[in-house]
Amino acid sequence: MPPVACSAVTESRREQFQTLRGMRDVLHPESARRRALVASFARQSELAGYREVVPPLVEDLGVFLRVGESTDVVTKEMYDFTDKDGSRIALRPEMTAGVMRTFVQHRPVLPWKVWYSGTNFRHERPQKGRYRMFDQIGVEALGVDDADLDVEVIALASRFFESLGLRQVRLLVNSLGDHDDRERYTEAVRVFLGSRLDDLSDAARATLERNPLRVLDSKRPEDQVVIVDAPLVADHLSEDSAAHYARVLAGLDALGISYEQTPRLVRGLDYYRRTTFEFAAEALDSAQNAIGGGGRYDGLAEAMGGPATDGIGFALGVDRILLACDAEGVFPASDTSIDAFVVDLVGGESARDLTHALRAAGISADRRFGGGSMKAQMKSADRSGARFAILVGEDELAAGELTLRPMLGIAADGEQRRVARDDLVVELTRSLTPTDTSSDQHRTNQ
Ligand code: HAM
Repeated sequence: MPPVACSAVTESRREQFQTLRGMRDVLHPESARRRALVASFARQSELAGYREVVPPLVEDLGVFLRVGESTDVVTKEMYDFTDKDGSRIALRPEMTAGVMRTFVQHRPVLPWKVWYSGTNFRHERPQKGRYRMFDQIGVEALGVDDADLDVEVIALASRFFESLGLRQVRLLVNSLGDHDDRERYTEAVRVFLGSRLDDLSDAARATLERNPLRVLDSKRPEDQVVIVDAPLVADHLSEDSAAHYARVLAGLDALGISYEQTPRLVRGLDYYRRTTFEFAAEALDSAQNAIGGGGRYDGLAEAMGGPATDGIGFALGVDRILLACDAEGVFPASDTSIDAFVVDLVGGESARDLTHALRAAGISADRRFGGGSMKAQMKSADRSGARFAILVGEDELAAGELTLRPMLGIAADGEQRRVARDDLVVELTRSLTPTDTSSDQHRTNQ
């Protein structure tokens, strides 16, 4: 197809574009809030010895097929397409598969503990809390079989929610057993559901063909009636798997992390073995209240063509966490007002030079372009939320001085005063220096 001439398109139609369905723009202050959330997660992960990994957003389609060819995420929801060279590629629907590809390709020293944040794409039916483009933060830890690592990983997520101020988050845990346990259990579920086919919904019958365990996730009332009698995974665990699970629960108890054992917790991806968990935000609608989930995936590295390597991790949904924070009234957008606003009443050169000098000294500063009256410029200063206005008039200019006018916050009680132009940075820094912890918070949020 020949390239479309942009000018021809804009001139003929002047179409107003909108975001695609299920995708959203994030504007200030929500963008700042997201950034603060990710920064906090990064800090807490680094504290626990996890280091950042940044895999590409696009991978060979095969990478994601290993996530599980019988899952909706892969079969129905993936944004896959043929690249210009004919190769089949896909936008990532989740991060674990890409991180495993990274591991197999680079073979870092074990144990390998990483954290990540990034955008994912799933072609789902959009609704509040369910988007086609959404962000995840998460960790993966490879090369350790120890149940205490499961405890560390779960504790990291749990502590993170707590640090945001979320109080209504339930931790659901289960063990799906090792590979053989899971096979045996899947067969038991298949046989059981097969015996109750007539009672199941059409959707559940279709799912049963592809992935019997996923039927246990159905929320439809007619399926629920059947599911309550389904076999329990606990009855199909080997001694080793049961011991591993018991140690995970003992670890959570020891750290004072409350959990609910949820024998029918089946996660939406195929790679899980043994420990699985999910975090449910009580304050959200039950259909979209999973704000994170994860578990062990001990066979995934091999499936990706690498050496047998144990692994566990989780991903948390940034969009849903923020909805949960809204619902609980916690983790508000941080204060992003600025330190100084230069009001230049003589030509604009002072505004140009002072904002530059202040920023170079680490003081956030802004100005109004195109001049304007004192009233107009002060209005802009007000709107910026600046703590100080720096006024430059004829008088000040002639005397080599400036007027420092306190506006907001820590500066609100101060008196307006004149300072020598050369002393401005020192004076401002002194005035802005926090005297208590709340203003300290303010400064770090810049
Ligand atoms: P997941 O359960 O598919 O697991 O996704 C994790 C979280 O991402 C969900 O709990 C939810 O908060 C968020 N999420 C998923 N889909 C959407 C969507 N369409 N819109 C908004 N948020 C969404 C995984 O992705 C695994 N990779 C987790 C993992 C890491 N397991 C081991 N390591």
